[in-house]
Amino acid sequence: MHALPPGPTEPPLVQTLRWIARPIAFMESGRRRFGDAFSVNFVGFQRPMVILSDPDAIRALYTEPANGLPPGRKISLLPILGANSVLLLEGREHLARRRLMLPPFHGERMRSYEEIVREATQRELSDWRAGEEFAIHPRMQAITLEVILRAVFGVTDPQRRAELSERLPLLLGETASVGLQLRMLLAPRLGRADPLKDLKQQLSGIDELLFAEIDERRTEGDSAGREDILSLLIAARFEDGEAMDDRDLRDQLLTLLLAGHETTATALAWTFDLLLRNPAALARLTAEVDAGEDDEYLRAVVSESLRLRPVVPLAGRRLASELELDGLTLPVGTDVTPAIWLTHTRPDLYPEPYAFRPERFLDSTPQTYGWIPFGGGVRRCLGASFAEFEMRVVLETVLRERTLEPASSRAERVTRRNVTFSPRNGTRVRARTRVALPRPAREPVPAA
Ligand code: HEM
Repeated sequence: MHALPPGPTEPPLVQTLRWIARPIAFMESGRRRFGDAFSVNFVGFQRPMVILSDPDAIRALYTEPANGLPPGRKISLLPILGANSVLLLEGREHLARRRLMLPPFHGERMRSYEEIVREATQRELSDWRAGEEFAIHPRMQAITLEVILRAVFGVTDPQRRAELSERLPLLLGETASVGLQLRMLLAPRLGRADPLKDLKQQLSGIDELLFAEIDERRTEGDSAGREDILSLLIAARFEDGEAMDDRDLRDQLLTLLLAGHETTATALAWTFDLLLRNPAALARLTAEVDAGEDDEYLRAVVSESLRLRPVVPLAGRRLASELELDGLTLPVGTDVTPAIWLTHTRPDLYPEPYAFRPERFLDSTPQTYGWIPFGGGVRRCLGASFAEFEMRVVLETVLRERTLEPASSRAERVTRRNVTFSPRNGTRVRARTRVALPRPAREPVPAA
């Protein structure tokens, strides 16, 4: 039978406001009232969206490669990222770019960026004043921006780096504003002027800097021996032997920035928040970091943090073929999205689902469709391994050099920033310098 699962019946504007103001309460009330799958209606979308949380249903959704992009993704991102962005293309064009872009984000290639992450963290730590209260989220944003500028963009010219460091956060801050998103959704209905006008102006200055960087890199050629991701993308070829043109490269650079900067910084802020509320876990992690022998617990902490505080709440698809769901057949064209938070808090998958217990991942790796902070299938996050790696290096570096304590007795509440779930007050902490221990020698990284 062609039908969608039931869901809340309030007008779309009410549902949208509930989702924006209290997303977790909105989703959890859907689960309580309707079970594993329910349909919601948001302003600006022509049809309902089906929300899922059962891993088998999510597997069926993600393993159909023909399923298309979710409807919302293009609304605000296309004018910024551009038509060639790997985040926005579909079908063969999308896969061709994914193939080209994946290798630098894996294996030894990825590990060769370790020093960049460590240095960016240490530079940031040198600005922390002992005993002073501050929000750690913006500090993590500074680190992840620096990492993207050096590892991905490879900008070495000091003036260009300074200009980009100044301009990019303004662009990112603007795209994160809930006000802008509401204006985007409502502008076509109200016949208002382009809400992205200011943003586009900022963007043209940034584009100029990026095109200059690309141009310089092409002139240098391979002989410069650079290893940043932009240089690798310039040298890479599609299956037909063609290279990416300048516009394509620019679109991917902004995509990697937008997809990789805020997300990783937010995941780090949440990890600190969870650790500070769970002193036993923090003590165990600090002991492991000091011993420097393995990083088993560190990996488990990162997995558990991404489970309990998934940074991206939704990663949906538009159905290219029918999907069977609890006796219903969802028709082609239906918008379906896993609610990552609901999946990650299922008691059948995670006993005591709201407790922070890294131990649950010590003996078992996360289940593919029951742990989905990075989405899944042919659109799974391209930077997932890189993000986890970056998180491990930042956490290890901070914990080796600083003792942190929470500046508030209350755990952070979730608020929405653009497409992310973010700590409302930025995770406020106080830091003290530790007696510096020498960093234990690890296996040398083989030349890439
Ligand atoms: C903890 C940090 C991160 C989280 C939680 C995260 C999460 C996600 C999610 C949920 C998606 C959508 C997946 C889907 O639709 O199935 C995605 C896509 C993507 N992410 Fe990430 N991400 C993170 C870090 C990064 C980093 C560091 C980069 C690169 C520098 C990156 C690059 C991308 C790209 C390019 C896509 C689009 C993939 C495609 O459409 O084929 N992400 N990410």
